[in-house]
Amino acid sequence: MSATPLTLALCKGRILEQSLPLLEQAGIQTITPKDSRQLFLESNLPGLRLIIVRNVDMITYISHGAADLGIAGRDLLLEYEGDELYDPMGLGIAACRMMYAVPISEREAPRRPRVATKYPRSTQRYFSMRGLQVDLVPLYGSVELAPLLGLADHVVDLVDTGTTLRAHGLRPVGLIEEISARLVVNKAAMKLKYKAVRALMERLRQTIAEQQTTCK
Ligand code: PRP
Repeated sequence: MSATPLTLALCKGRILEQSLPLLEQAGIQTITPKDSRQLFLESNLPGLRLIIVRNVDMITYISHGAADLGIAGRDLLLEYEGDELYDPMGLGIAACRMMYAVPISEREAPRRPRVATKYPRSTQRYFSMRGLQVDLVPLYGSVELAPLLGLADHVVDLVDTGTTLRAHGLRPVGLIEEISARLVVNKAAMKLKYKAVRALMERLRQTIAEQQTTCK
């Protein structure tokens, strides 16, 4: 890989936990001590540094070019309305589903339910396509609390094991999107740092291909 400086953004949480092993398999290790609270992580590859950002800020960092590329959930891309990004490859990690869920105890759905979500665009699209009217309640997190506290009737959120929904008395009733992590690249970086970005993509592509062969 060339030493062109490249900044790769990773999301805190589940995606980070699964991204680091993937990067490691691709020969990319962080050399910043693991117990440090630093949000910049130097890597073993010359020129490549990693930054750790919050999920909600991921697209902002990459679309503004503060990070050249990143590993982000498809859920974030579905909400993005701009034209500054490519998402050239799925990474086969952090698979889950964006689901519509209602209270298990609900007897009759309200005529125009209030739906709490971190994903207003995807949610609106889902209901509009079905000709259904809803009032969106946009939230940044802990969406499953909203029906319990009377803030909303229903929710749209990511579901992995289903434990969080069940723990809050909710059941999934509609699949909105299949979600997994994707590599996201700033368009300008793709042009100006083409060789470095391609080299990184090639590493990841080979690693994913090897994993798929091993899993067969
Ligand atoms: C996600 C999602 C759900 C939960 C689902 O939250 O928003 O709350 O995971 O997982 P489960 O089906 O396995 O219970 P996450 O922990 O990623 O954090 P967030 O709520 O801050 O987005």
